[in-house]
Amino acid sequence: MNMIRNDILIKTLRGEPAERTPVWMMRQAGRYLPAYRVLRDKYDFFTRVQTPALATEITLQPVDQIGVDAAILFSDILVVLQAMGLEVQLIENKGPFLPDPVRTSADITRVIVPDVEETLGYVFDAIRLTKKELNNRVPLIGFAGAPWTLLCYMVEGKGSKTFDLTKSFCFSQPELAHRLLQMLTETTIAYLRQQVKAGVDVIQLFDSWGGLLSPDDFEIFSLRYMRQIIQAMKNETPTILFAKGAWASIPELVGTGTDCVGLDWGIRPETARKMAGNSVSLQGNFDPARLLSPIPELKKEVTKMLNSFGPGRHIANLGHGILPNVPVDHAKAFVDTVKNHIYKNRGKEVFSSL
Ligand code: CP3
Repeated sequence: MNMIRNDILIKTLRGEPAERTPVWMMRQAGRYLPAYRVLRDKYDFFTRVQTPALATEITLQPVDQIGVDAAILFSDILVVLQAMGLEVQLIENKGPFLPDPVRTSADITRVIVPDVEETLGYVFDAIRLTKKELNNRVPLIGFAGAPWTLLCYMVEGKGSKTFDLTKSFCFSQPELAHRLLQMLTETTIAYLRQQVKAGVDVIQLFDSWGGLLSPDDFEIFSLRYMRQIIQAMKNETPTILFAKGAWASIPELVGTGTDCVGLDWGIRPETARKMAGNSVSLQGNFDPARLLSPIPELKKEVTKMLNSFGPGRHIANLGHGILPNVPVDHAKAFVDTVKNHIYKNRGKEVFSSL
């Protein structure tokens, strides 16, 4: 195994002391970067995702230009639905579109648990190339969508604020929903295992729509599947579990056995730490829209967030993906503020596993 030179993210995930708080940004490889927009004008979305040289170049952009402590592979959670036999388009400025969504038992016959090596080989090629180009500067994060979030796109066929169709599908045809969720879970475990084999150092599971479910339904339609995935990956790689809007279930998210729980900005760090206990790291939770504040104010807010989490067992991040209209120097100010921060409350580190 080659040593990663900046491994503070890995140390923090393991609960080991690190030189400082690591920082990266969800959706850091994307439209706010002019270098990304150049490639976006030349190649369509899935060409960028499926061409390892392009995916690698985009993955490295925020490492080179913003100085984050981790790279996250440029790809998308929806590639898993394509591998399972569904057509997925990305309509510019509108978002994902599935011309034939899955809503009946007849529709389910079109859905398969694929051989991931065969259908998603380009992702593993992109991981190998990215690892080579990164040359052990920082760790590489692999990822997948949580089964519930993928089911949302599979059934709804497009983005939505409430995913009402998906919820009514789950509540009126639970048996079909659970069959699909289990197929998504099996595919995701195979997919993440291959990502680790290809070289990713950490994996993050994105449950972007977990917060749309009541805590009881979150257990039934999301958590029990994420638990299977985290348990399957636990001994292979450090894991981060991000379920947007699901902070009421922090104790249960910790209970999956994950190394880190990702938080959105809807909860105070102190409250999250109380709910989570000291056995996991917490990641987050700066409001992405706050990056639009004037830089001095932005710095003040980031400083406040860092002191609220305290040193140790915290990975600084946004509470959701970076917005496309964030100026690059504001994104950089976020990262630099974390890097230069000196804690008022040093000595109270949460290094629980030591
Ligand atoms: O984080 C990174 O920088 C790595 C790349 C990444 C993308 N999508 C690239 C992308 C990651 C980790 C994702 C995850 C993803 N994709 C999620 C979970 C995280 C979240 O934001 O909640 C979801 C729900 C999707 C599905 C998806 N893909 C949507 C809803 C959209 C359209 C909305 C949008 O943000 O534009 C996409 C397209 C997409 N995926 C873009 C990027 C950079 C934008 C399209 C473009 O640049 O042409």
